[in-house]
Amino acid sequence: DADIAAVIDSDQNRLVSPDGSRVARAIFSSEEIYQRELAEIFGKCWLPLGHESQLPRTGSFFTTFMGEDAVIVSRGRDGQIRVHLNACSHRGAKVCLEDTGTANTFTCPYHAWTFANDGRLVGVTFEEQYYKNPPLDKGKLGLTPVAQVDTIHGMIFATFDPNAVPLREALGGMVPFLDAIFDRREGGMEVVGQPVKWRIPTNWKIYQDNFAGDEYHIGFTHGSSLEAIRFSDEQFLAGLVHCAVDGGHGFAANFDPPDGSEPYLPLNQPVEAFSPETREYMQSCLAEAEERVSAIHLRCQLAAGTVFPNWSLLPIFHTFRVCHPKGPNEIELWAYTFVDRDAPEHVKRELAGYYNFSFGPAGIVEQDDGAIWESITRTAQGTQGSRGFSSYEMGAGTEYWHEGLGCWMTDKLSEAAQRSFFREWSRRMEGGK
Ligand code: FES
Ligand code: FE
Repeated sequence: DADIAAVIDSDQNRLVSPDGSRVARAIFSSEEIYQRELAEIFGKCWLPLGHESQLPRTGSFFTTFMGEDAVIVSRGRDGQIRVHLNACSHRGAKVCLEDTGTANTFTCPYHAWTFANDGRLVGVTFEEQYYKNPPLDKGKLGLTPVAQVDTIHGMIFATFDPNAVPLREALGGMVPFLDAIFDRREGGMEVVGQPVKWRIPTNWKIYQDNFAGDEYHIGFTHGSSLEAIRFSDEQFLAGLVHCAVDGGHGFAANFDPPDGSEPYLPLNQPVEAFSPETREYMQSCLAEAEERVSAIHLRCQLAAGTVFPNWSLLPIFHTFRVCHPKGPNEIELWAYTFVDRDAPEHVKRELAGYYNFSFGPAGIVEQDDGAIWESITRTAQGTQGSRGFSSYEMGAGTEYWHEGLGCWMTDKLSEAAQRSFFREWSRRMEGGK
């Protein structure tokens, strides 16, 4: 690809500078790079698939994607969660066309081969009549299982790489931060209903970079929306730190807010938006959270972040997202609302409602971003624009290692989290594990 070659030559063979502060725009539109990402990143990393609460009983299943590969996630008779390619072993048709449901078997719509939800091929149409000679070895024709499946706090992950390090090792320094979000109460959390899905014509990394640590844009891109919810951008930024966790993860957090506001409540949002009952519920959970979770990680409240490569966290709005790439210039976002499983019904309803009002395709904040991300993608498609570089220099070199939190951080607004994301992207693209 001539354009890529030009970019590589112009920057000492690097699409991403060693510290991650300078990134070639071509990586946001190149088909060649995208194909390599599918192999090196989506083909090898642990990818988020959904939550166990979406599989409440034996036979429950949902379908999703790992990169561009369709997969079925199901709970077998033995209670075990399995993940298989959603592709018939006969000729590759999708065997499950539903988003979610309950089924002990899946029957392919093409020639009606039937698979148990543990992947075994259990039925071949006209087997007696037409597969006698030569016979069919059904034992070898099950659905293809993915290499590894694991969960953390009920969140289901899988990887196509049999040699990938265990999930908790891949999440590394993110684990105590995930504990502080998802393990504050004994019952854990659950997702509400099904994910909301919509497409945006942008590159997946533009979206993940924004979630990793772009709090810089909030007061401008979302200016008018923030007025509507009486959100003070200046106050928000004043209490903000940026954290970079080894492995390409990164986030913005409120760490011991200097204004003395309560660190355990979703202080980044106008708490008066919640009813007194919901605030009371949040207060009442603090003692349990303090017992269960590392104190320093509880104090460092994650506002928005990216878990490499495509899991986004936005706990202040009770949502997490999975960003499915659909080519170099399109993503499909799957947004999940989560709540404490043991919370009273009215609290669950209120929190889910708050999410829908603010974020999501119909929320007041979300749509502002989509137009910007699309414009960046268009720039990266231009003959001249694709030769440019994007700057992630804010606070470069000021990251310091925080021993208690186990991550790199800057005490104020910076682009440290994005630099972490692009360094890991670069390392993975060069074949690193
Ligand atoms: Fe599935 Fe033929 S492709 S049965
Ligand atoms: Fe935004």
